[in-house]
Amino acid sequence: MKNNIGIEFIERTKYRHLSESDQAKGVEQPPLEQPYTGEGKHIDLPDPKTLDLPDIGLRNAIERRRSHRTFSRQPLTMDELSYLLWCTQGVQRSASKTQSAGGFETLRTIRTVPSAGARHAFLTYLFINHVDGIPSGLYRFVALEHKLVEVDLDDALGKEIGRRCLDQTWMANAGVIFIWVADVYRMAWRYVERGYRYMLYDAGHVCQNLYLVAESIGCGACAIGAYDDDAMNELLNLDGVEQFVVYAATVGKKASTS
Ligand SMILES: Cc1cc2nc3c(=O)[nH]c(=O)nc-3n(C[C@H](O)[C@H](O)[C@H](O)COP(=O)(O)O)c2cc1C
Repeated sequence: MKNNIGIEFIERTKYRHLSESDQAKGVEQPPLEQPYTGEGKHIDLPDPKTLDLPDIGLRNAIERRRSHRTFSRQPLTMDELSYLLWCTQGVQRSASKTQSAGGFETLRTIRTVPSAGARHAFLTYLFINHVDGIPSGLYRFVALEHKLVEVDLDDALGKEIGRRCLDQTWMANAGVIFIWVADVYRMAWRYVERGYRYMLYDAGHVCQNLYLVAESIGCGACAIGAYDDDAMNELLNLDGVEQFVVYAATVGKKASTS
């Protein structure tokens, strides 16, 4: 195979080529999660500890899991949404201080998914289409507080997102569209160039949890990797460098054929 950017990416992210990290230089660590700004209303989600949802067992969830692209119009409940968010980015412990290899302390969160060095360098945006009690629109999930912050209550955004995902118009019928954004410096502070690999690995873990948990609550999920990067970044007002859309997925109540 001829040299190409993919081969170069794998080569240049080998340990021997990495730049010295800001962590190693003693630069202060970025916050665990980007603070929310703006006027948007906050919606507290049901406490994950109180949720009483079906459990079909891990093996069943793994065996039954398939990608679903056809959804019924039945809304998800707030409990179900809370559970999906908890299982994909939920914070179990936060701000524990550990001694790092560089000899100074770092803050970290321990979550329901693994992440390289516990960096958890994502923001989760949601387009909510059909969830009981939540108006349609774009929201950000604040993992540290397990709540949603309203970003834009334009209910036509579902169609727009489908269009920007290479005309996958069916996405607009999902109950919820998850969009995971890489917040690069939270990872690169420690891992520099190699951090880009890790964010891709991490995104895979997150989406796999979404698939399995969706299955366990009678929903179907579908990963979305086909999207126009620039168009999706623009929609979320991201610069595409410090922050960019890294992965997405749809979830909805299953239709009989999907
Ligand atoms: C990284 C990745 C990106 C994907 N992107 C899309 C997508 O943009 N649109 C889509 O309909 N399915 C997408 N899928 C779903 C795959 O098409 C699906 O997993 C595959 O066909 C196997 O089917 P199964 O998931 O039902 O086992 C994606 C899956 C992965 C893992």
